[in-house]
Amino acid sequence: MVQFTVDQTFGSPDEGVTSSSLPPDRGAVRQAVKQEPTAPKQVGEGRTVYSSNKPKATVKSTPRPGVKKSSGGFHMPKMLENMLPKSSGKPQDMSKTKELLEAEKAYRRGLTSLRDVLAPAALKMNPNELEIAGTYSRTYFVLAYPRYLSSNWLMQAINLDVPMDVSMFIYPLDSGEILKRLRDKVGQIQASITLNEERGNVRDPMLETAYRDAEELRDRLIQGTEHYFRYSLYFTIYSENLDELNKASTTLETILSSKLIVAKRAFLQMKQGLNSTLPIGRDEIAVSSNLNTEPLSSTFPFVSSDLTSNDGILYGINQHNNSLILFDRFSMENANTVVFAKSGAGKSYAVKLEVLRSLMVGSDVIIIDPEHEYQHLCDSVGGAFLNISLNSPTRVNPFDLPKGIEGETDEDILRSAIVNLMGLINIMLGKLDPTEEAIMDRALWETYAKKDITAQAGFAGKQVPVMDDLVEILQGIEGGDSLANRLSKFTQGTFAGLFNQRTNVELDNQMVVFSVRDLEDTLRPIAIFVILNFIWNEVRSQLKKRILVIDEAWWMMQNDDSARFLFGIAKRARKYYLGVTTISQDVTDFLQSPYGEPIVTNSSIQLLLKQSPASMELVSKVFFLTEGEKYLLLESEVGEGLFFAGLKHVAIKIVASYIEDQIITTDPKQLLEIEQAKKDLRRGSE
Ligand SMILES: Nc1ncnc2c1ncn2[C@@H]1O[C@H](COP(=O)(O)OP(=O)(O)OP(=O)(O)O)[C@@H](O)[C@H]1O
Ligand SMILES: [Mg+2]
Repeated sequence: MVQFTVDQTFGSPDEGVTSSSLPPDRGAVRQAVKQEPTAPKQVGEGRTVYSSNKPKATVKSTPRPGVKKSSGGFHMPKMLENMLPKSSGKPQDMSKTKELLEAEKAYRRGLTSLRDVLAPAALKMNPNELEIAGTYSRTYFVLAYPRYLSSNWLMQAINLDVPMDVSMFIYPLDSGEILKRLRDKVGQIQASITLNEERGNVRDPMLETAYRDAEELRDRLIQGTEHYFRYSLYFTIYSENLDELNKASTTLETILSSKLIVAKRAFLQMKQGLNSTLPIGRDEIAVSSNLNTEPLSSTFPFVSSDLTSNDGILYGINQHNNSLILFDRFSMENANTVVFAKSGAGKSYAVKLEVLRSLMVGSDVIIIDPEHEYQHLCDSVGGAFLNISLNSPTRVNPFDLPKGIEGETDEDILRSAIVNLMGLINIMLGKLDPTEEAIMDRALWETYAKKDITAQAGFAGKQVPVMDDLVEILQGIEGGDSLANRLSKFTQGTFAGLFNQRTNVELDNQMVVFSVRDLEDTLRPIAIFVILNFIWNEVRSQLKKRILVIDEAWWMMQNDDSARFLFGIAKRARKYYLGVTTISQDVTDFLQSPYGEPIVTNSSIQLLLKQSPASMELVSKVFFLTEGEKYLLLESEVGEGLFFAGLKHVAIKIVASYIEDQIITTDPKQLLEIEQAKKDLRRGSE
């Protein structure tokens, strides 16, 4: 093996690997053998290759064309120049100048600069790799490309899990010159084709393809839609030991050769290779291929979506390129989000993390929590946690009316309130038939009228009715008895009180959680509807940046009326500065409702975490997933999945800091530990 050591002829001090940082007398061993690139050699059509000679034992170096060579590490400072006696050209003057220069040189050798401290003690150059202070590097250059390359072909090599520097050099060529050469080429090919025809040979498809290609290129060059370039591509891979370097080399070679790209090790040119991949813009290997604009554009390696903006919050890590997904949902055309995944995949965790981070940037958050799992988060941020159950004192009156917003008449408000109440009663009593609906509609108007709330009289400062008032009115209407009886279950029987009292909650906290876990399954959709109605009224009354989270939203989708109501909110939320987050584990249930898909299409942000194989088909149809994305969702770990923002898709990994994790976890083991720690703390302070 030929071994190289370094001296100061490697390049000028500011250009790449250089040992000028090692003062000639200290540090480096003199270069014993030196490799010399020869003049460029034409290889085939339009490709220029610099090949290395066999290493020669020489101390003298020949500067490469265009490569600046340092003047032995010594530059005469301006000050010294002024001090020197002006040479009159006499021999004794000259020798004096020389003496002074020698003295200065000797003095300089004794100085230590920052570069000396930073530079490695030595560089070992082997023909096949470079060793710099325990790190090995190896450079590859690309020699030829296949006829077809898909876009983004370079990404696979770049995403290789190996420290790597990649450099590309693009030299624009004069189209006029290329056109001249192409004309000659076309002439030659045409002549060959004609000759073949005259001889009566069968046609040669290769010649014809070449002819067509050249003609097409000539057209596009003349029209100016294409340009011509020389393109060099180099990879330098690094490793801590030789074994790993060899392994990484094999992988890189395999990736490139699988794409029919001919890449070679920069054998005997490792130093030039390293210099060519340093961010200093020096192409010392100078192996290039001719490419026109279109194939050149396919070399652009970063087509993985980037979802980093200057504002917003951190959603997670982009698994394509390890960048951060920073995003402001309110910057989209609507701020709605849907989250789908199988149970335990990390939906609630992801949303809690978003909530926690959104609170920090000033959004208000309202949560409907069917599992009682947001309390810990709510307590940690000083939010209001409202437990809705038969025994709790928290009450929400479905008859509440919103404060009017600009352009809305009292009649509009009353009408929409009655439409919503009809929806609620349909959930409470089961679907009403048309006659019952007519009776109920009349009764509802009369119930409000009983409290002097009519479109004409207005309703400012008046007390709204409660469910009892409706039952009373129904009893007085012909044919309303049966409805009154059915409804009395909610005013007198077991469920009395829950929907029959005035509202005693306010949304004046930055975070409000409504927990409905303690309600019976039959009451839960009704309660969610009533709470949503209340929230919607509040949201419309006062414009504020708000996020509304509906966890386990499939509860709402089981009934057409509540699903329609949820869809109505999602559709109109944007105008009220509201972003609705809908979370569902039962994708099939959710999407089979006629309002499921419209909710998805009305959500600019979609988060898909791990899916079960059973629901995969439906999910992939609704979200237009590619095969790769389907595979990713089936295989992903907890907290990993796909994040869609408008048309952009990225693979996301949701990560929380330790403190955030402590606040939002639903892991029972962790929760018990936290509870215990809290108890200990309390006991300690007593
Ligand atoms: N990104 C993450 N990093 C670390 N742990 C996570 C992450 N996401 C979820 N977990 C943990 O995984 C478990 C399940 O998460 P989570 O409660 O969010 O699931 P889910 O999808 O909401 O399930 P369900 O549909 O049953 O409500 C929890 O213990 C949570 O702490
Ligand atoms: Mg959950």
